[in-house]
Amino acid sequence: MNAFASAPGKIILFGEHAVVYGRPALAVPVTQVHVNVEVLDSPRAGIFIHAPGIDLHAELNTLPADHPIASVILKVIQRFDISPLPNLEINISSTIPVASGLGSGAAVSVALIRSLSSFLLHPISDDEVNTLTYEIEKLHHGTPSGIDNTVITYNKPVYFIKGQPVEMFKVGKPFTIVIGDTGISALTKESVNDVRRLWLKDTARFESLFDEIAQVALIARRSIESGKPELLGKLMDHNHSLLQELTVSSPELDQLVIVAREAGALGAKLSGGGRGGNMIALVEQAKAESVASALISAGAQHTIITEVQ
Ligand code: PMV
Repeated sequence: MNAFASAPGKIILFGEHAVVYGRPALAVPVTQVHVNVEVLDSPRAGIFIHAPGIDLHAELNTLPADHPIASVILKVIQRFDISPLPNLEINISSTIPVASGLGSGAAVSVALIRSLSSFLLHPISDDEVNTLTYEIEKLHHGTPSGIDNTVITYNKPVYFIKGQPVEMFKVGKPFTIVIGDTGISALTKESVNDVRRLWLKDTARFESLFDEIAQVALIARRSIESGKPELLGKLMDHNHSLLQELTVSSPELDQLVIVAREAGALGAKLSGGGRGGNMIALVEQAKAESVASALISAGAQHTIITEVQ
């Protein structure tokens, strides 16, 4: 018997960084990119993992226990109390760029957990997939808020507050986002640590910046739900300037944000950890292609046009 599962990428629309301090953030799945995992019976003894995208071809036992992929498989085996271990071939392929804020790590975990659960005939609820994936995220990313695993597990727009029950939001009217990748890989862990250092030094100022970001996220949610996505442009611009004050932007991100606005976007901001990775721009559908090509001309490594619905 074979099993298969797929998981999308994600992008944060509003509220990154402040979300680590208990404020709300909005994130949506990006279905143009995804991770696919296939689990097959193997004629040879062992659990063989093939992930050509990261040049990985290895038997489970030859990998360190904290390897990002091995750790997921080991967690699933432990969770389902599987013994003896079956002989498996696991094929992992992904179109989600790594380390760019599109949630590739969480997507691998979600697809791997679901395909193994289906292969091993151990049903697993979405809530459990989410909890297991969060445990893996903590292993590799320090103190993540949990937004990645949540939006990718449920594959729905999520209004996320750390430690609170998952809340989805409705999209009153679909809208189009262009995602532009600076091509600069930046560790979210580092920008999160830097913000923490600054917050410790000037807590009052940073708390009030986080409050302002929370306000933006709240108004953004209302605008989306009430079918007025055009209002998000100004909110993105405001959120970007608040992220600049948190020191998590970069000259390249600022440049792409400006270029997107000049090319006709209704607003733009960095997305995710910052310092590199992606920015997003809100566009009228008819302008999506021209904003995307302006971003490429300004140095973006690639772009994704996605419809939020
Ligand atoms: O860089 P990304 O897309 O994984 O997002 C990081 C978002 C932060 O708020 C900066 C950190 C977090 O854990 O939520």
